Amino acid sequence: MALILSAHPNIEISISNKTILQQLEQSGLEIEVRDLSRLYPHFEIDVEAEQAALQRHSTIVFQYPFYWYNMPAILKHWFDKVLTYQFAYGSKGDKLKGRNFLASFTVGAPETGYKTLADHHFRVLEFCKNIEQTAYYAQMNYIDPIFTYGHSVNAGIAATEITAKAEQHAQKLIAQLELLGRC
Ligand SMILES: Cc1cc2nc3c(=O)[nH]c(=O)nc-3n(C[C@H](O)[C@H](O)[C@H](O)COP(=O)(O)O)c2cc1C
Repeated sequence: MALILSAHPNIEISISNKTILQQLEQSGLEIEVRDLSRLYPHFEIDVEAEQAALQRHSTIVFQYPFYWYNMPAILKHWFDKVLTYQFAYGSKGDKLKGRNFLASFTVGAPETGYKTLADHHFRVLEFCKNIEQTAYYAQMNYIDPIFTYGHSVNAGIAATEITAKAEQHAQKLIAQLELLGRC
């Protein structure tokens, strides 16, 4: 049902994304997880394999930590290589048409810094305009992203608190996937 494209360059030391993936695996949902960083440590994306995986699923989830107000490099590279002309766009490029596009990411900094615009000059959703437009261009069904704040130990947040937030994040994602599965 759903393809989970996980992009974390160091999942071994991850708290949040690792927790979210574990919860997804335990959810009983019909999912296929592809860990892009593990599959492609040297960034040599197998375009055919990725395009075939996309076509097996009606919902595509992009699971990643928010890095420099964006996605990790491996995922950006994945977009550059996989969403090709006449596959994702162009006169015959309708292979992704109608599939759900759902970004799910963890934000390191607390919510206040993004809400007051004190530390960060824009709100998180403003940083998502590029992925939203990408989904539209590929004729996909853009679903509001699922993101949660305060996942960084560097922001002075305790690991137990981060794990709890990641679990809540996973529950939101699972609920959304269940909803999409019923449509
Ligand atoms: C290279 C890098 C860039 C980051 N950029 C941001 C950022 O722009 N905004 C932010 O709020 N957090 C940022 N963070 C914090 C991460 O989003 C946070 O550590 C991550 O979501 C936690 O997930 P994990 O436990 O799965 O690694 C960054 C972290 C790294 C390592």
